[in-house]
Amino acid sequence: MQNQNLHWGGVDCLELANKFGTPLYVYDTGIIKARCRELRETFLERWENTRVRYAGKAFLTRSMAKLIEREGLGLDVVSFGELNLALSVNFPHEKIEMNGNAKSHEEIALSVKSGVGRIIVDHPDELQIIEHYAKESGKIQKIFIRVAPGVDAHTHAYIATGQTGSKFGFPLEGRMLPEAITYAMKSEFLDIRGLHFHVGSQIFDTDDYTKSLEKILELMKTLKDSLGFTTHELNIGGGFGAVINPAIKSMKSEFYTDVIMKKLHESCKSLGLEVPRIILEPGRWIVSEAGITIYRVENIKELPGITYIAVNGGMADNPRVALYNAEYNAVSVSNPEGAIYNREGNTHVSIVGKCCESGDVLIEGAKIQKLQAGDLIALYNTGAYTFSMASNYNCLARPAVVFVENGEAKLAVERQSPEDLLRGDLLV
Ligand code: LLP
Repeated sequence: MQNQNLHWGGVDCLELANKFGTPLYVYDTGIIKARCRELRETFLERWENTRVRYAGKAFLTRSMAKLIEREGLGLDVVSFGELNLALSVNFPHEKIEMNGNAKSHEEIALSVKSGVGRIIVDHPDELQIIEHYAKESGKIQKIFIRVAPGVDAHTHAYIATGQTGSKFGFPLEGRMLPEAITYAMKSEFLDIRGLHFHVGSQIFDTDDYTKSLEKILELMKTLKDSLGFTTHELNIGGGFGAVINPAIKSMKSEFYTDVIMKKLHESCKSLGLEVPRIILEPGRWIVSEAGITIYRVENIKELPGITYIAVNGGMADNPRVALYNAEYNAVSVSNPEGAIYNREGNTHVSIVGKCCESGDVLIEGAKIQKLQAGDLIALYNTGAYTFSMASNYNCLARPAVVFVENGEAKLAVERQSPEDLLRGDLLV
């Protein structure tokens, strides 16, 4: 029998906090696996010639990379560090894609030499750099060219990436794109497989995808007619949205993929194009709901009109509220089903972090059970872009990561120690 404490992956969160300390990132790997299975069943198996590359930027650790490998998906990386992590666990190299808008020579060299499956070119200069390393290693490197479809996604401006004038990708208009394609087609060391776009993140409106597809398919047709270039593969990025309310599940993947694939097949038919292989790069949708963060309440400050519940973490382990006005929900770990506490005079409740900034808020206008100092709370849906965006601001240690499933807990990443925080800091 489970007690009334919040359980995650079948494990008592109070026990987790006692054993591993707080703040603590806890991932139910059962949920991550279910998401991967859903993508296999409703996308990879339903539509032929398709691939999924998990966007590691949402949450990547070595155990996570292994999990993604076991689930049969590939990996999208964007830096030397992410690639090095993947290589350190011998993630199948051909199932890795290297993305990024400002790749260094070192990143390109490591990508080519380690034999990553695709490099997504974001700038014309990359072509010669890739060629150089491919020639040096006696390889032909498969590449995509990233384009900005010129669609303003319905999402926060900081995470919209496909609009005209975006820093990402080649614009649809002008000579930059046809020149790059022509160059790549002529190169002995480049195998240009197709195009890539990513319209943005936290997308709930499938129109953002269909509008982008319309533009890209038109582009594919133009490129075919003008340059004789066939887009064999089309990577349509990530972006599937994740909800914040734990009582609601995110959209099923087929909510997006069925619309995308139907649009693709119809449009290819009417334009006389061969249907390219479709690659997806979801990040958030796979991990967001699997993760919670457990905090300890340090103190509660009741002021006229506002109550501050201050916890032992904040913007250092989760900068998303400060950056994007992200919204979260939280519960008391010892009383998750308890009635929401109605403060006298309906005081506004703000769950805040311990960093020295007023913007260090985790939940503004929180609805939560009655708490006191020393209690634990859990924020739901913190699995994406928290651990991966964590900082050591105020010299706070990065929290540990624990994987839970079927009542078992495993430490996946250790909490940083005081020594870790001093490492590399030299007295000069
Ligand atoms: N592919 C590319 C090329 C991307 O730039 C991204 C995200 C993805 C795939 C995965 O997108 P997702 O499926 O996770 O939405 N830090 C922000 C999100 C930034 C997303 C950046 N690119 C946040 O916390 O909301």
